[in-house]
Amino acid sequence: MGIVGAGPAGLLLGHLLHLNGIDSVIVENRSREYVIDRVRAGVLEQGTVDLLNAMGVGAGLQRAGLRHEGLYVSFRGSRHRIDLAELTGGKAITVYGQNEVVRDLIDARTATQRPLYFEADRVSIGGLDSSSPIIGFRHGGAGHEVHCDFVAGCDGFHGICRPSIPDGALTVYERVYPFGWLGILAEAPPSSDELVYTCHERGFALFSMRSPRVTRLYLQTLPDEPIENWSDDAIWDEMLERMTTRDGWRPTVGRIIQKSVTPMRSFVAAPMRHGCLFLAGDSAHIVPPTGAKGLNLAASDVLVLARAMKVYYEHGRRDRLDQYSDTCLRRVWKAQRFSWWMTSTLHRSPDQNGFDHQRQIADLDYLTSSRAAMTSLAEQYVGLPSEVSFDSAGL
Ligand code: FAD
Ligand code: PHB
Repeated sequence: MGIVGAGPAGLLLGHLLHLNGIDSVIVENRSREYVIDRVRAGVLEQGTVDLLNAMGVGAGLQRAGLRHEGLYVSFRGSRHRIDLAELTGGKAITVYGQNEVVRDLIDARTATQRPLYFEADRVSIGGLDSSSPIIGFRHGGAGHEVHCDFVAGCDGFHGICRPSIPDGALTVYERVYPFGWLGILAEAPPSSDELVYTCHERGFALFSMRSPRVTRLYLQTLPDEPIENWSDDAIWDEMLERMTTRDGWRPTVGRIIQKSVTPMRSFVAAPMRHGCLFLAGDSAHIVPPTGAKGLNLAASDVLVLARAMKVYYEHGRRDRLDQYSDTCLRRVWKAQRFSWWMTSTLHRSPDQNGFDHQRQIADLDYLTSSRAAMTSLAEQYVGLPSEVSFDSAGL
């Protein structure tokens, strides 16, 4: 299989195929350092953690991952805890940076000695309607062609695979939000053991972490807000204004070591397959980060794809490949709905009036006082049951 992109989707798929004896070549246009250093997701669902452990790449996760059995929702100056583990029969989420996941997977790939090209130039794909597609690229000054049975488009939202599908073959569903997230990493010990999602009149804010010494925080801003507009002092003033609760809880202030603004969108391209090209992860769908679902969806897509490939190569059966898109999209749409709901319940829209804000507060009041509502959030936040059950990553 030819895999375009060495983000979480491409690397996970490559290793799952390896564990099932299926050859793959991974082609990535950025450098190894760039791919590892990119600061992004932090929350892994229970199923993603189980998958990484079953694949034998969970050592770092077990050593440094922070298991969270609950989270807080904060509004009107008070934090309300939702006990994820108690409401879901013991499930939890694990905070472990995407950087670390990607580093662990690159190490695992390197140990297999299977091909992984970084800094590939002019990557292209062709022959999608044939049974022998080709990935073309330049590397180290030379042209390369990978002839494969299938191509996995794991090259993210801005990649080349989705745009290689002929016009009219895909239906795109999209919503762009009128806000973005300003995210920072700060050298500050987390002042809470669990995440705090805050709905404030001035806009959404999120308290998270990466380690016992590093806090990760987000602030709702305009989608195209230049980061230069925000001095470190202005960021801390706004974080504290939105997050400080009446009981005096607030994030610990520290030196800001990274800051950036991310726009927010919901996006689905369907079907997730064209001929012998299979889209997986952000190349097929984007969720706003409020539900912490993006990386987890990438993992569930490639699990479905790896199982389908195993069935094809072992038994010559194409039925799982034919069902790939429908199987993934059922989960994707539930994650889209959840992420949209978390986003619209916690953020402030520019056209929002007093009625809308009061309705949001009532929604949060109901959420944090009804066991049924908390259970609904909890089971979606820790991750709905997987479409593919596995005892080991030999599937
Ligand atoms: P990507 O990570 O985008 O990887 C695609 C890879 O393809 C990249 O390495 C890219 O360089 C490469 N590529 C692109 N074009 C080409 C080309 N032409 N040729 C070769 N290679 C190419 N998700 C969660 O689950 N939990 C969270 O808590 C969470 N928080 C987030 C916070 C923020 C601020 C952001 C921005 C995202 C967050 N996400 C979260 C989403 C998550 O980061 C993504 O969903 C995830 O990275 C998707 O993985 P992927 O492999 O599909 O795509
Ligand atoms: C993060 O820690 O980066 C994070 C946590 C929760 C989210 C999104 C991002 O919903």
